[in-house]
Amino acid sequence: MEFIKVDNSYKKHIALITLNRPKELNALNLQLMGELRDALKNLDEDDTVRAIILTGNEKAFAAGADIKQMAGKTAIDMLNVDQFSTWDQIKKTKKPIIAAVSGFALGGGCELAMTCDMIVASETAKFGQPEIKIGVMPGAGGTQRLTRAIGKAKAMEMVLTGKFISADEAEKVGLINKVVPVEMYLDAAVELAEQIAQLSPVAVKLAKESVNRTFETHLDEGLHFERKNFYLTFASEDQTEGMNAFVEKRKPDFKGK
Ligand code: HXC
Repeated sequence: MEFIKVDNSYKKHIALITLNRPKELNALNLQLMGELRDALKNLDEDDTVRAIILTGNEKAFAAGADIKQMAGKTAIDMLNVDQFSTWDQIKKTKKPIIAAVSGFALGGGCELAMTCDMIVASETAKFGQPEIKIGVMPGAGGTQRLTRAIGKAKAMEMVLTGKFISADEAEKVGLINKVVPVEMYLDAAVELAEQIAQLSPVAVKLAKESVNRTFETHLDEGLHFERKNFYLTFASEDQTEGMNAFVEKRKPDFKGK
């Protein structure tokens, strides 16, 4: 891996992926995205991992897709390379992914954070979809996920003007989960990941899948999907363990089975 670092045992049951093109503010070139896709696939298959944190560095989570790599391309080049198809793996990842964002999360960087399940940010973080300023528009979820997260008025303003919003505003409008001082953003993401990693990995996976279903379907179908997943948790040893532990007034020990 040249442009990302992967630590599959950063903490107990928690993997850390660090975007690692610091000089280019972690601009997302094709190779980086390919490496990220492969890493997520591997971590999803690794039974020791229960939650994944994706981060950059203090100055930038990611300043967008690599403009220099895209600048000379034709529409047919873009179509043939279909760079966004690598993003599908992120969406397919069954384990929870927490974005730990500091500095710039712009364009594809903002879209990447939004593709994760939760976002913890440092107070220096800046979120934006500035593609409009370079004559294009968001292409990896910026018009869709942002609008679903913060509503039409604010999303339209960000997408049509390219303005950035601060971490505080991002929290206020519901784009992110938490803002903390810059020296704490990774620890805050770890704290969240640790809470999840203590729970039943089976139930966590099914619950993540069910929440995400909201964005794909209407209410009746979503409720039906949720109910089936709820019933399915009763096929797990973790359900027996969780309920017995409650009755016996002890801490459950979930095994992911
Ligand atoms: C390629 C980038 C880059 C990018 C920064 N760099 N962003 N290279 N693609 N998206 C490079 C700069 O060219 C520069 O390298 C180095 O990183 C540091 O950047 P500076 O501009 O010198 O830093 P600063 O003055 O602090 O400004 C930071 C910035 C600015 C405000 C974030 O870099 C900026 O506006 N970047 C582009 C943001 C953007 O438009 N993102 C959307 C991209 S389109 P050199 O070698 O020149 O010094 C997109 C499409 C999404 O994301 C589609 C889905 C993937």
